[in-house]
Amino acid sequence: MANQQRKSRERPKVERPTPETQDAAGPSERSVDPRNQLNDLTGAEWIQETKSFVFQKGLGAAHPHAQIEREHPAPFSYQDVQRLVLFFTKPGSTVLDPFGGVGSTAKACALSGRKSISIELSKKWHDLAIRRIRTEVNPRELTNHQFVRGDSTKILPTMKESTIDFVVTSPPYWSILGKKPDHKAGERVARDLATKYSDDPRDLGNIASYDAFMTQLVSLVSECGRVLAPKKYLALVVSDFRHGNRLFPFHADLTTRLAGVAAGKNHALALQGIKALLQNHKGLKPYGYPFSYVENIHHQYILIFQKQSTDSPRK
Ligand SMILES: C[S@@+](CC[C@H](N)C(=O)[O-])C[C@H]1O[C@@H](n2cnc3c(N)ncnc32)[C@H](O)[C@@H]1O
Repeated sequence: MANQQRKSRERPKVERPTPETQDAAGPSERSVDPRNQLNDLTGAEWIQETKSFVFQKGLGAAHPHAQIEREHPAPFSYQDVQRLVLFFTKPGSTVLDPFGGVGSTAKACALSGRKSISIELSKKWHDLAIRRIRTEVNPRELTNHQFVRGDSTKILPTMKESTIDFVVTSPPYWSILGKKPDHKAGERVARDLATKYSDDPRDLGNIASYDAFMTQLVSLVSECGRVLAPKKYLALVVSDFRHGNRLFPFHADLTTRLAGVAAGKNHALALQGIKALLQNHKGLKPYGYPFSYVENIHHQYILIFQKQSTDSPRK
């Protein structure tokens, strides 16, 4: 009985409002509250999205619309991003992704009636992102999405302050893609797929020191905060990782370094949530077996910040 109960609790659940969440949602559970300036969700839908964990969703490797995504060594799922876009924006809003990759954010926006700006350094990923919208969504959608090829550290400072409604991105995780191929990278090598983003020295994934990488990433996120409109949100999808025999708690390091970081004039980024993105479908690898405990890291984190005023509150 106890086992049965545990099993049913562990199974990924279809996200439906429960009586408790409906109660918490109150009178607007089935409609969009007229005071809701953030999104178009009903009260019940809103409450569901406030859970501190979510199961990752993907199309599956064999799906025809997963083939461009598979070319990239570290894409995120456009379905996971779409969920964030639907929570943190209204239709017609503009979303920025400064590490655009193969355009997962752009695709999520294209399927949700939002506009997007993707900045990507590598020509290969930049071109594939455009092809992805053309072939997986609709060529007409390309007019709503800007694909800028270049270095975000140089392009973001040229963008106007407070013009973006939501920032969502996944940065390089330092230089881990450049390390000796592990099980996962080995499988990509065997299939002749890229295992790193580029050899470009401006690629944040090619910075040798962890500290220098973190400094550059924090300054880039601060720039994203500057272009974000006040009270709007910024979400970073990151994972902890191992390098050599050391485990780097990247999400914790980044959260600590970003706490209160400047976001333009008289504003700063304030941490609002740390959501675990559970990857329960991933196969387990025998890392460390049978000698030592080496974790299969099967979750990521979504770090959620809001741009808040630093002016002291009125007395
Ligand atoms: C984790 S991947 C993002 C993948 C993306 N979310 C997707 O689903 O395709 C990070 C991306 O950042 C890009 N990148 C690294 N340094 C950059 C820089 N300085 N400016 C712009 N893009 C950069 C890499 O080429 C890589 O495609």
